[in-house]
Amino acid sequence: MTKALPPTRHIISINDLTNKEIETIFEVAQGFLKELADDHHSYRIARSTDIASRSILASLFYEPSTRTRLSFESAMLRLGGTNITSADPAVSSAAKGESLADTIRVISNYADIVVIRHPRDGAVRLAAEYAQIPVINGGDGSHEHPTQTLCDLFTLRSKNKNLRNMKVAISGDLKGSRTIHSFVYALARFGATIEPLPAPGMELPAHVDRRLREEFHSRMVSKDSRPAGTIDALYVTSEQPHQLSLYAEPEVEYGLVLQKKIDAVYVTRFQKERWSEKERPYPRIDAKFLGEPKYSEASVMHPLPRVNELDASLDNDRRAIYFQQAAYGVPVRMALISLLLHLHKNKSLHKFRGGFAKPEHPIYCQPIGTGLHCANENCITRDPAESQYAANKFYIVEEPHRHDVRLRCLYCETDVELAAEAAAETLVVADTTRKTFSRGLTSLHKTPAEKLKHLIIYHNDADALAAGFAPREPNAGRMRTG
Ligand code: NCD
Repeated sequence: MTKALPPTRHIISINDLTNKEIETIFEVAQGFLKELADDHHSYRIARSTDIASRSILASLFYEPSTRTRLSFESAMLRLGGTNITSADPAVSSAAKGESLADTIRVISNYADIVVIRHPRDGAVRLAAEYAQIPVINGGDGSHEHPTQTLCDLFTLRSKNKNLRNMKVAISGDLKGSRTIHSFVYALARFGATIEPLPAPGMELPAHVDRRLREEFHSRMVSKDSRPAGTIDALYVTSEQPHQLSLYAEPEVEYGLVLQKKIDAVYVTRFQKERWSEKERPYPRIDAKFLGEPKYSEASVMHPLPRVNELDASLDNDRRAIYFQQAAYGVPVRMALISLLLHLHKNKSLHKFRGGFAKPEHPIYCQPIGTGLHCANENCITRDPAESQYAANKFYIVEEPHRHDVRLRCLYCETDVELAAEAAAETLVVADTTRKTFSRGLTSLHKTPAEKLKHLIIYHNDADALAAGFAPREPNAGRMRTG
């Protein structure tokens, strides 16, 4: 009897990996390194191996890339495998209007594993739905960049930094940087403290902030005596919920956190390709900034490329580790590729529930062409090329401590009702069996999966009325239309 192959794994978000799986990737990556010289510009791959000699990696890049694509391709070559590349959308069938869904179905026959970079948030999750091979996210819009985070964590680990008690300052475009979004989730999961240092107006997106607090056990601690907001606060996080009790005495314990020196500063460039304005005041990290005593032992990190936000005079500073982050892209991606292809006898990516398990939220899948759509205009579900392939799908997330739910787009992971609130709309749930609708999402709370498929959610009463549903509460429709 032949052994059944494990199901195909896709790595779209850093949260697709448990903490234990991340450690496994690092153990394998470490095995690929021969020696880790103290000089942070050099390391060597242990030996050339041919464990992937029968495998092909496809790199499908719809956005510019140097490090991510080339380090993936170098990793595959060093594993003894082969690459095929489509790195310029202008010369691929995307230029003829082909959907990502069709492209990935075709590529599934040409390669054994694929890494995708795409300008739309959530694009790689959509691709994974249509793929028969493992799909790795090489950066999707401003959503996530999980393999960069693996490189970042591996670099910190090589410096013997203990994530659990680390304090990491994050500077620049926290709103649009996908590297930051994956990184802060991981930091929170491993119990680090995060100090946001955003450029004006470039704070973490509301949904990322909310997940840090509600899902990843972070607490907001004000840097001074004012009530904690998202701008002037730290995220103090702990690996296990019960450890929050460590911080039960705010004045005492938070004081310690506040006094602690910064262990790492993570710098990012202004993501100009995502914003309409081309310039804005932007923090610059230089010798003067790092001259403050609290940064005396801070590793300086950057996913690169840098533009002006990180002074080149720091390159020879003992704290600079950004070129090492880029160098580790090869062993870390070798480890990830080889594990996803099951090329190791004794190591595999097992779903391990210790440390962190992605919450299993129920999924509501809407019929294509009707009802609610994701509010994020850059979401892949809003891409006309994918309109026949990308159904609007939402996680039904239970509101903590309330008998209510909210909807999170399954692709870009933004929260729908934050946008609805901003537009002063009340979402409505229509029941296709009764032909009625009711306001708010409360009726979705604990709705069994087989009943979910009879429901259609609309942006407001008017949309539900226009689709032929009658209000369940007599006043619902009238209030809106009367
Ligand atoms: C990052 C990216 O593409 O998001 N680059 C990378 O992969 N190292 C960071 C950036 O472009 O600013």
